[in-house]
Amino acid sequence: MRIALSSLFAFAIVAAASPSMAQNANPLPPGDGRDLVSVACSQCHYLGTIAKIRDGAAGWRIYVDNMVLRGAQLTPAEVDKVVNYLALNLGPGINLPPAKPVSLPDGQGKQLVETRCTLCHDLERVAAIKRQKKDWPIIVANMVTWGATASPDEARTISNYLATNFGN
Ligand code: HEC
Ligand code: HEC
Repeated sequence: MRIALSSLFAFAIVAAASPSMAQNANPLPPGDGRDLVSVACSQCHYLGTIAKIRDGAAGWRIYVDNMVLRGAQLTPAEVDKVVNYLALNLGPGINLPPAKPVSLPDGQGKQLVETRCTLCHDLERVAAIKRQKKDWPIIVANMVTWGATASPDEARTISNYLATNFGN
């Protein structure tokens, strides 16, 4: 009984170790500043959280400033370095990870959503949850502030499309 239990225990350790080993592979793209980001940004969450996002320098700076407020240990010069690395290597549209295919319902605005709303995150983020119809124009305006390109007319078309198909 004793032997059986201890070998079961050993098996459990091996089983538990494998997924965490997979997580240790660094998902960040090569580039100047990668080592700094890898150390400073892995203290609280998996680096994959960062690797799947795309944003411009202004957007990344907001994230990084926010992380410093939460406790990331970076000098102001290091913050600049981190933001440069992120904007250069994880900017809008750069090497997007293969997204789970999300097929949107037909309708006016579908194509705009597919082209404009997939540069920084996948469509799952857009289409996974239904939201209040009235919230969509606010979310779309927020995305334009983050850096999504849409004229006022296009933003209205996108909001209407999303409210019709993903609104309550
Ligand atoms: C002191 C802890 C801490 C450190 C260090 C840290 N973060 Fe975070 N980060 C958080 C917390 C807490 C959240 C919010 C919870 C979440 O969304 O996972 C978060 C969320 C994020 C998100 C948002 C994820 C999403 O899907 O919206 C990004 C991007 C991010 N961090 C980037 C960074 C970068 C870049 C660095 C290094 C400069 C960093 N983090 C270092 C605590 C930290
Ligand atoms: C320039 C980069 C960028 C583009 C382009 C972009 N987004 Fe975003 N989006 C973000 C970032 C960064 C976040 C996470 C920050 C946040 O949660 O506010 C986000 C989060 C979201 C969320 C979740 C927000 C919430 O309140 O839960 C939705 C929904 C969304 N985006 C929809 C869209 C739509 C629709 C478009 C196309 C009009 C779009 N995004 C284009 C950067 C972008």
